[in-house]
Amino acid sequence: MMDGKMQDALNGQLNAELYSAYLYLSMESYFESKDLSGFANWMRVQAQEELAHAMKFYDYIIQRGGKITLSQVNGPPADWESPLVVFKHVYEHEQNVTSLINQLVNLAIALSDHATNNFLQWFVAEQVEEEESANAVLQKIKIMGEAPGGIFMLDSELAKRVFTPPVQTK
Ligand code: FEO
Repeated sequence: MMDGKMQDALNGQLNAELYSAYLYLSMESYFESKDLSGFANWMRVQAQEELAHAMKFYDYIIQRGGKITLSQVNGPPADWESPLVVFKHVYEHEQNVTSLINQLVNLAIALSDHATNNFLQWFVAEQVEEEESANAVLQKIKIMGEAPGGIFMLDSELAKRVFTPPVQTK
């Protein structure tokens, strides 16, 4: 049985992952409105990943005999100035998620909850990839965004991203 503080914090992260999915779906619709379907595809895949992250927390809380608390998911922004500003937002958002995961690890360690610490290590590794992939696109926009047609070349590249479900834990 989990400590109540750990359970509450994991439910909080379940909400944060659902918010991330909302955020990326909103960004997808922004790109669709700009006819950048490759960028929109990248965001759709990102939203699918976030839903998978949320379900990992959901399943783990239940697996430990905990109680799921689904709280209100805040509405994300709906508009951005440019693709560059969107990806600056994505990169900052993922850095913030990394800090949330680190706080969860700190709590698990403080409570000597080794099982939860072990569970969270998947997310520690995942956040390295999340930051890297967001920053990779951000840097490409900075370089290619200046060149004529550069943003459309990048759009074709981002159209190729496909969702790969993470390995199921149950
Ligand atoms: Fe669930 Fe993008 O981290």
